[in-house]
Amino acid sequence: MSAAVARVLDGKATSALVRAEVRERALRLAAAGCTPGLAVVLVGDDPASQVYVRNKDKAAHEAGFHVRTARLPAATSQAEIEALVAGLNADPSLHGILVQLPLPAGLDAERVVACIDPAKDVDGLTATNVAALVMGRPGLRPCTPAGCIELLDRHGIELEGREVVVVGRSLLVGKPFALLALERHATVTIAHSRTRDLAAVCGRADVLVAAVGRPRLVQGPWVKPGAAVLDVGINRLPDGSLVGDVDYAPAAERAGWITPVPGGVGPMTIAMLLANTLRSAERAAAPAAARS
Ligand code: GUN
Repeated sequence: MSAAVARVLDGKATSALVRAEVRERALRLAAAGCTPGLAVVLVGDDPASQVYVRNKDKAAHEAGFHVRTARLPAATSQAEIEALVAGLNADPSLHGILVQLPLPAGLDAERVVACIDPAKDVDGLTATNVAALVMGRPGLRPCTPAGCIELLDRHGIELEGREVVVVGRSLLVGKPFALLALERHATVTIAHSRTRDLAAVCGRADVLVAAVGRPRLVQGPWVKPGAAVLDVGINRLPDGSLVGDVDYAPAAERAGWITPVPGGVGPMTIAMLLANTLRSAERAAAPAAARS
């Protein structure tokens, strides 16, 4: 007897499609006199953050954006970072500002994020944009959960009326994904470290999102046959290999769809960062027309 194997939700290929679409619109906007501009701020020398920032910088250049990347030492003060953000807010050539998280110990990330102009908050993390999401109003949405929704949409995977379980309750992924799925009329459960019988909760998911940062936490037998499994985790094991929050091989034997790690959700985060920046630039170029 051969086991069924899930179809792969290929984030790399889907991201390439989105990025090509963004580039086309960015070039059109640039020809009309407004090149989309993105500022990326990296503080300190966290190796994973350095890789993420390099990838974001490269993707933004490839999309035809103007990019300003600021790399600051870990010893930078709170006041210096806030002054830098204020300068980026005031620069009309920049339409998106991303401060890579986490910040080094001793810096208050919440206060830094609060300094970002909500119109340029392409990470969707300011209180203004979080409130817009909660209230179902237009606003910039966080890139990783928006990328998960885009991946589902582009593979024809419905959310309306379906059971969605999100494992993880972070501000960056778990909570906003739950709200985005709710906006699409899914029935949503947020599970977390204190959830009792996580296996049973995961087992009712038609769409299961794992976003806790614990290697292979979600086990194969927990997956409902035919479910779509999105793995947001990227965990480096002591042997140097990368694994997600889902135990991939056994989960893929039960799931209908599954994202690989790497090459699943990660590339979609970058695609949505570019899409958000483009949207901000389009609004800046034609504020009245882009209000819808
Ligand atoms: N660190 C990990 N993911 C993200 C993200 O989506 N945005 C920012 N700013 N930092 C991150």
